[in-house]
Amino acid sequence: MKHIRVAIIGATGYTSLETIRWLLKHPNVTITYLASRKQEQPISELFPELLGRIQLPIAPFDIDAIKKAADAAFLCLPHVAAMEHVPPLLDAGLKVIDLSADYRLKDAASYEKWYKHAHSDVKNLSAAVYGLPEFFAAEIKNARFVSNPGCYPTAAALGIAPLLQAGLVETSDIIINAASGISGAGRTPSPQHHFPERNETYEPYAIGSHRHAPEIQQTLETISGNPVQLLFVPHLIPMDRGILETIYLKPRSAVTLDDAINAYERAYSGKPFVRLRLNNLPGTKYVANTNFADIAVKLYNGRFVVVSAIDNMVKGAAGQAIENMNLMFGLPETAGLL
Ligand SMILES: NC(=O)c1ccc[n+]([C@@H]2O[C@H](COP(=O)([O-])OP(=O)(O)OC[C@H]3O[C@@H](n4cnc5c(N)ncnc54)[C@H](OP(=O)(O)O)[C@@H]3O)[C@@H](O)[C@H]2O)c1
Repeated sequence: MKHIRVAIIGATGYTSLETIRWLLKHPNVTITYLASRKQEQPISELFPELLGRIQLPIAPFDIDAIKKAADAAFLCLPHVAAMEHVPPLLDAGLKVIDLSADYRLKDAASYEKWYKHAHSDVKNLSAAVYGLPEFFAAEIKNARFVSNPGCYPTAAALGIAPLLQAGLVETSDIIINAASGISGAGRTPSPQHHFPERNETYEPYAIGSHRHAPEIQQTLETISGNPVQLLFVPHLIPMDRGILETIYLKPRSAVTLDDAINAYERAYSGKPFVRLRLNNLPGTKYVANTNFADIAVKLYNGRFVVVSAIDNMVKGAAGQAIENMNLMFGLPETAGLL
């Protein structure tokens, strides 16, 4: 049986914990290296749910040791830190899956505009394959380096792309109303994410300035081959995990609900992690702790209303990263994920 030795870089954050939890149950994987700048305590003291399940020490980022220990690396680092760690890992011959945003936007100038930082690894920017398996599986299978999509962009692309691909909707009239649980902001503390700030309130943020907007646009333009204009309005909602997006699109003339349903059925036939909810509506509870994306479409007063729900930590991060690893190593897409 194929066996993959995995290193996790940035081991003390939320997406790392999620990656560890899933990989401990993966039949083809052993976690062999946990890298962090903090080295004081075992990972199971930091995350008590791992007690008795993983004995590895946390170690510094030592590329020679990682090269000996691992075949693949998951980068669970913030942007900018990720692009400092990717080149040595690729040079060491590992397959790399980056969960950060550093390699998602294909244009270095656009990266600098949105992330307020010059891109320091432009060479690998073009080598990175965007890891949305429902649309780019063929490229992912041949990739040595995958840039894992953002959480909001995953739910948005899965909800919108089939309608654009089939030419059923106006490309300049797309409104995405999105909400995320607080784990989307990571484990690194910040005052605006303290419990009293976020509890019992539902608020929009970053209207017109959220960095996931250009990523969504780029993905939809790549898939559809046409320019796309969209409004993306994110909100924070006081729950641990989950993303739900309600998306409004204008049908082209004479397009029916059946046309839309057929487009989704064609796009997701044989795709194990997209569930079409034709008789009821998605909710975050039904995808929590799973790698599924649940999607529904309705036609209401001349608009398609699409609802797309994922778990931001699973299909929006660690689960999709493992799905990508499976494809990169020739394993079944679902290995360790159902
Ligand atoms: N949370 C989500 O739902 C989600 C979804 C999709 C994508 N992402 C992306 O995934 C990445 C990780 O997110 P997360 O939620 O796991 O973040 P997190 O909980 O804040 O963890 C990030 C980890 O990276 C390490 N780190 C921080 N700054 C660093 C630096 N300058 N150099 C080296 N290591 C550094 C820290 O570990 P040490 O202090 O131990 O070194 C920290 O525990 C981010 O790029 C995020 O945008 C997150």
